[in-house]
Amino acid sequence: MGIPRRFTIAESSHRILDPFTEERIRTLGDAIGLSPGATVLDLACGKGEWLCLWALDHGILGTGVDINPPFVEAARERAAELGLADRVDILEADASGWVSKDPVDIAACCGATWIGGGVLGTLDRLDLSLRPGGIALIGEPYWREIPPTPEAVRGCQVESVEACTTLDELIESVQGHGWDVVEMVLADEHSWDRYVAAQWLNIRRFCDENPEDELVPELRAELDVAPVQYARYQRRYLGWGVLALQKR
Ligand SMILES: C[S@@+](CC[C@H](N)C(=O)[O-])C[C@H]1O[C@@H](n2cnc3c(N)ncnc32)[C@H](O)[C@@H]1O
Repeated sequence: MGIPRRFTIAESSHRILDPFTEERIRTLGDAIGLSPGATVLDLACGKGEWLCLWALDHGILGTGVDINPPFVEAARERAAELGLADRVDILEADASGWVSKDPVDIAACCGATWIGGGVLGTLDRLDLSLRPGGIALIGEPYWREIPPTPEAVRGCQVESVEACTTLDELIESVQGHGWDVVEMVLADEHSWDRYVAAQWLNIRRFCDENPEDELVPELRAELDVAPVQYARYQRRYLGWGVLALQKR
């Protein structure tokens, strides 16, 4: 399965591929009490930044799994650059069937719950890798406010209004699946800007530097509309956050 090249281009300068900042990843690590030697599995780890930050700050031992070769390469380079190659292991694989050989303290999937067919299926998958009492981390979008029109839903880059829930509904659904929500860290407009607005410069630079590339017309069209759509809809209506969960 290939990841559309558009993502590799638009997120070329990003180390964090979700609307989170370093500060929020650190806050999350503090909030769940990561400690030296704790084992963390990150499914769909992107460029590995979450594991690298937690290895630097908290001394965790991380394993990341991602399917996109350029992201895997970037993650390995980042771990090596930070002197973490012996603490952060990055594997190129489809994470949808991935189960850790040894149970881990923390199992995460932030921004890719399609790998388990949705939040609940992904929790079931993470559970297969967790030690008893371990913590699952799920990063997921939610409606801060229900968009009032179909155009507003589309402007949020979401398929349909039903494709997301509100935060309280998200919490209820994981509780109903047998998990306690024990912590959470949420994105805000600033962390959204660092994820979304930072893509526009990457797209513009790619178009300038590769005028003959077949993706340029599509990317050019995106750059024409994306900033307005984001400011009008996504920034206002769409939230994102990480829930920390322990099985009852
Ligand atoms: C929104 S990004 C989140 C990455 C990372 N968690 C972060 O926040 O920086 C989604 C990631 O899922 C990866 N991905 C998508 N499908 C996957 C699969 N089946 N197995 C492993 N990784 C997958 C993509 O390559 C991408 O890195």
